[in-house]
Amino acid sequence: MRQLLDAALAKRAPLRVPGTDALRLIDGDGDGLPDIELEDFAGNWLLSTRDREVPREMGTWLRDQGRSVYWKRLDQQQKESPARLSGPPQEEPFTAHEGGLAFEISFQSGYSQGIFLDQRDNRAELRSRLKPGMTLLNTFAYTGAFSVYAAAAGATATTLDLAQPYLDWAKRNFELNGFDPAAHYFCKGDTFQWLARFAKQGRKFDGIVLDPPTFSRDKEGKVFRVEKDYGRLAELAFACLAPGGFLLASTNCRTLPPRAFEAQVRGIAKRAVKTRLAPMPTDFTGEAYLKSLWVDPA
Ligand SMILES: C[S@@+](CC[C@H](N)C(=O)[O-])C[C@H]1O[C@@H](n2cnc3c(N)ncnc32)[C@H](O)[C@@H]1O
Repeated sequence: MRQLLDAALAKRAPLRVPGTDALRLIDGDGDGLPDIELEDFAGNWLLSTRDREVPREMGTWLRDQGRSVYWKRLDQQQKESPARLSGPPQEEPFTAHEGGLAFEISFQSGYSQGIFLDQRDNRAELRSRLKPGMTLLNTFAYTGAFSVYAAAAGATATTLDLAQPYLDWAKRNFELNGFDPAAHYFCKGDTFQWLARFAKQGRKFDGIVLDPPTFSRDKEGKVFRVEKDYGRLAELAFACLAPGGFLLASTNCRTLPPRAFEAQVRGIAKRAVKTRLAPMPTDFTGEAYLKSLWVDPA
């Protein structure tokens, strides 16, 4: 097992570029270590296991690294905060970096730690597409990582999420990077309602990010399921796209095949579009669960 663990780390060495210290180090089957994931956030490691204990040999290997290692059991519905497994206790919150930008990280915040590493390449592409003066609508924004990249490109970001604590976290991420949150927009509430409102107001954006949870239920109990409802979501988003604008439609729904997802979004576009399914970042060596579709005018 030690060989597999060392090989997984060595494979990621080229991704350790200046300005990026957050990586997936082990990705389950992709590294010959089923149901084990390990992520590095600025030298603090978060181990996740599904339906299994930490193998003894791995526990020893982790201790030998001298890192602060926390352990999250994915079989507990992700409800419990990760527990310290080895190394020194980690101060909370702390900062990790990606693309030269800083992000607040917390292992104890419940749902997730503050940034989804599987969207790294999409964030980089988003930044390269946006120019000063352009506008981005980041829906289902969580802690606003896409918005911070938009601000870094000189664009104005509208960050939309159901949860006020995540919007507050997003504002702190702006501040961490020296961007004034007051120069951007933050909207609390349901993406569907906001998109309908923007469309009615004739408000258009140069780029829109859609990255909904696979399943969600709003305050009124209304359910959203990716397989069934993504088309409706994309239709609302298309109505808010400026001429020449782009859409990033993303989902981590494992049961939805990439081509079916692409067809669903293309089918709803009601305009000539070209689409490209983007691969996952290379540190995600396991199942390619994340589907990312870039949609541009044809
Ligand atoms: C999968 S995370 C999005 C990750 C984010 N796109 C990123 O890359 O960091 C889902 C987010 O959607 C929010 N959310 C769930 N249902 C929502 C809804 N109907 N409208 C707006 N936000 C919603 C949750 O609060 C959560 O922050």
